[in-house]
Amino acid sequence: MKAVVYTRYGPPEVLHIVEVAKPVPNDHEVLVKVHATTVTVGDTRMRSFTVPRGQWLPARLYLGIRKPRRPILGMELAGEIEGLGKHVTRFQVGDPVFASTFEESFGGHAEYKCLPEDGLLAIKPANLSFGEAAAAVGGGMTALRCLQRGRIQPGQAVLIYGASGAVGTNAVQLASRHLGADVTGVCSTANLDLVRSLGAVRVIDYTQDDFTGDGPIYDVVFDAVAKVPPARARQVLKPGGVYLNVHRDSHAGSGQLRSAELLALRELIEAGTLRPVIDRVYRLEQIVEAHRYVDQGHKRGNVVITVA
Ligand SMILES: NC(=O)c1ccc[n+]([C@@H]2O[C@H](COP(=O)([O-])OP(=O)(O)OC[C@H]3O[C@@H](n4cnc5c(N)ncnc54)[C@H](OP(=O)(O)O)[C@@H]3O)[C@@H](O)[C@H]2O)c1
Repeated sequence: MKAVVYTRYGPPEVLHIVEVAKPVPNDHEVLVKVHATTVTVGDTRMRSFTVPRGQWLPARLYLGIRKPRRPILGMELAGEIEGLGKHVTRFQVGDPVFASTFEESFGGHAEYKCLPEDGLLAIKPANLSFGEAAAAVGGGMTALRCLQRGRIQPGQAVLIYGASGAVGTNAVQLASRHLGADVTGVCSTANLDLVRSLGAVRVIDYTQDDFTGDGPIYDVVFDAVAKVPPARARQVLKPGGVYLNVHRDSHAGSGQLRSAELLALRELIEAGTLRPVIDRVYRLEQIVEAHRYVDQGHKRGNVVITVA
């Protein structure tokens, strides 16, 4: 099968499409024929080995000391089940699915991927294309998990900082349409209309205005891009308000809980409450170009890769 492989850390040009062995599912796995995947900021950081100071060693131990240990990136995918391990009961050949590969050594940037049937894998939302379904997974689950920790009540004032990214676009929709909050989104000039269209009642252009200027008026502040010092974000919280940060508050719970999150996400999508925002679509052969674009740090929502 075709796969995008990197054998050293570096710029987008370290990525190459090569032929690798098609994976074979074990007894409890399904074989997914990948139709679409995404390039996330996480993929580009792993490729370039861009990690916060102080995390070099743990990150290197996880990703590979001398060279990447998991040579195929791609954290989310959508496709069709093509093969079944002999003990698989939850899925059938031909089922359309969407999945996270985060706990399965990544590997979405390939024609096939084996996943455990009890992993982060579910029938894809019926109202999404494969490309949209792949893009729905990471940003959607992360936003859902973080906002749940905020215990948001209808009518509360919620500020989403970084409202135009993969996590932010989901957070604006979930906080406003699902949780009934009055959402203020912070983004740059080019994204003001997008963020309004996702349900924000108010938008602040961070290139023109300082979001702290209004004082402590929010019940919840969610920094969806982890770009604001926490003390600064807390300045706009009412007494007793909740500060959420995508890095601090997105850690996953148990496997069962995470599977429930993916199913909850599908329900929200099928109910029309949530829809992934797609910025650009590239073919697998254009993976270097896609990484160059995501490297710039300005994508709106998601960058999709069509595989087959
Ligand atoms: N996506 C996931 O599945 C996931 C899962 C877990 C954790 N995370 C973490 O969550 C963070 C956000 O991820 P993401 O995928 O949402 O990122 P992303 O889509 O790559 O974020 C890009 C967006 O951030 C905006 N942005 C950049 N600098 C900004 C600033 N200073 N202030 C406000 N907005 C700014 C950009 O808009 P402008 O340039 O126009 O401002 C752009 O729309 C990352 O640190 C990531 O590691 C992501």
